[in-house]
Amino acid sequence: MPADFEKQSYWHERFSSETSFEWLASSQSFMSIIEPYLSTFSHTVENTPRILHLGSGTSDLQNCFRSRGYLDVTNVDYEPLAIERGRQLEQVAFDDVRMKYIVADVTQLACDFLQDQKFDIVVDKSTVDAVSCGGTAAFSRMASWVKKYLADSGIWISLSYSSVRFNIEQLPFDVEVIAKTPTPKLKESDPEIYYYCYLLRPK
Ligand SMILES: C[S@@+](CC[C@H](N)C(=O)[O-])C[C@H]1O[C@@H](n2cnc3c(N)ncnc32)[C@H](O)[C@@H]1O
Repeated sequence: MPADFEKQSYWHERFSSETSFEWLASSQSFMSIIEPYLSTFSHTVENTPRILHLGSGTSDLQNCFRSRGYLDVTNVDYEPLAIERGRQLEQVAFDDVRMKYIVADVTQLACDFLQDQKFDIVVDKSTVDAVSCGGTAAFSRMASWVKKYLADSGIWISLSYSSVRFNIEQLPFDVEVIAKTPTPKLKESDPEIYYYCYLLRPK
């Protein structure tokens, strides 16, 4: 990825015209990987897992959660256009907005709205890749904030194009690759390129 993928100005310009884009995989494909892990959490009408979706962009992932009955979803992006687009996508799909949307930087998540909340599931779809363009220190800060907001029994599921995305020192998580999926080739002779779905549990 070019280095400016970590900059909000890049995303602002991009989302000024791009209203819908799915990074690495469609939301449906991502859901099919993560559903077995979501279903390990108690899910009743009164008690739905608390989900924190980082770097929501113009993806419709939050609508996939809602259509499966997961309503306690907090979507975070530092670009206000992305947050506005997320709300619109939910309004169009469901005729109302019941999920939460917050403008915040995932590398500095000392956010009034989140305060002392704990989440059962944190998800990001290639947001780790964008944040990593800002260097290891920024990425480590993101990981520390995820740890802070994750319940002890919670999980972080992350989709990345990098096979070494979580090879950083003193990561406060145990890491496992739960899926390695080839990306479509433009030509038969193109090399195999994969994206990786990681499951992280707090140490
Ligand atoms: C690669 S895109 C992924 C978007 C979406 N998850 C998807 O799959 O289509 C990265 C997203 O993360 C957001 N982002 C990048 N760095 C961020 C940061 N430090 N804090 C919050 N959001 C950030 C960008 O605005 C963008 O929406």
